[in-house]
Amino acid sequence: MSELKKRPVILDGDPGHDDAIAWVLASTVDEFDIKAITTVAGNQTLEKVTYNARRIAALLKLDIEVAKGRNRPIAGDLIIAPNFHGETGLDGPKLPEPDHKLSDLSAIEMMAKVLKESKEKVTIITTGAQTNVAALLLAHPELKEKIEMISTMGGGLRNGNWTTGAEFNILVDPEAAYTVYHSGLPLQMCGLDVTERALVYPEDWERIRALNNPVAKIVAEWLDFFFIHVSSLGWKGATLHDPCAVMSLIHPEIFEIKDYYVDIELKGEYTRGATVADYHGRLNKKPNCRCVVDLDREKFVEYLYEACGKFADWEVNL
Ligand code: BDR
Ligand code: CA
Repeated sequence: MSELKKRPVILDGDPGHDDAIAWVLASTVDEFDIKAITTVAGNQTLEKVTYNARRIAALLKLDIEVAKGRNRPIAGDLIIAPNFHGETGLDGPKLPEPDHKLSDLSAIEMMAKVLKESKEKVTIITTGAQTNVAALLLAHPELKEKIEMISTMGGGLRNGNWTTGAEFNILVDPEAAYTVYHSGLPLQMCGLDVTERALVYPEDWERIRALNNPVAKIVAEWLDFFFIHVSSLGWKGATLHDPCAVMSLIHPEIFEIKDYYVDIELKGEYTRGATVADYHGRLNKKPNCRCVVDLDREKFVEYLYEACGKFADWEVNL
């Protein structure tokens, strides 16, 4: 029997409830060979999101090193999001304590090591600000050829969520996003266009809870917490932003994807951090981004449900 060809991936994020659910999903994908988890300041301080990442790795029994990344954006002050994710950055259910020591390498050193050692090109999935990836590209331009693609949650072609023009992950570090969007690397962007349609309704996560395994129950409790703030903004379901960056890789057929040239607004008085698509081709530039703009919501929920079902008989020490 031929062996499944594995796709090496690095998970880079700022968990964060939706990052955590993205990583639950990624951990269930047989085709993925998760080489490292790297953290970046964003939803909370670097210390807090790194602790969360290590607790998530313990929950998922991932025998993978977690490496701490950048604690602030390239320029300006860090913006954090305790209103969405709480004081810990991952408020809600109790989680197991970290069971692996934190890597001695920084996120950038870890990414460089994985890229150097990998025979196959590596996919980087970013669910936070792109600070680490930008730093990697600036420090190791020679390793660009080892990157298969970057699948990222960030931006929005039609609107922002933190300001009128900017989405949170891009606004945290617009200069980093600029570096990535100008890198020439294959880039797949799940912006708010799709992620605000990736709605998971309370009845959907009651089905997930009813799977009654430890991970499914924790996912449901993360959604309970996340929905407190999201529902106060008028949403009828939880906007599952970050899982789109994983799901669009494993089930591209349920997404609508369009190629555009996208640039990052750095200077705008009101629009710093906006992702601007050249819809009308006025800039006469080749598309640099596969923009994921829509999805089949019901299939998205079904695949998430299936993923959460893979943890039957899971034992978690809380
Ligand atoms: C993004 O911002 C963060 O709060 C979420 O984790 C997600 O990555 C959505 O704008
Ligand atoms: Ca995130």
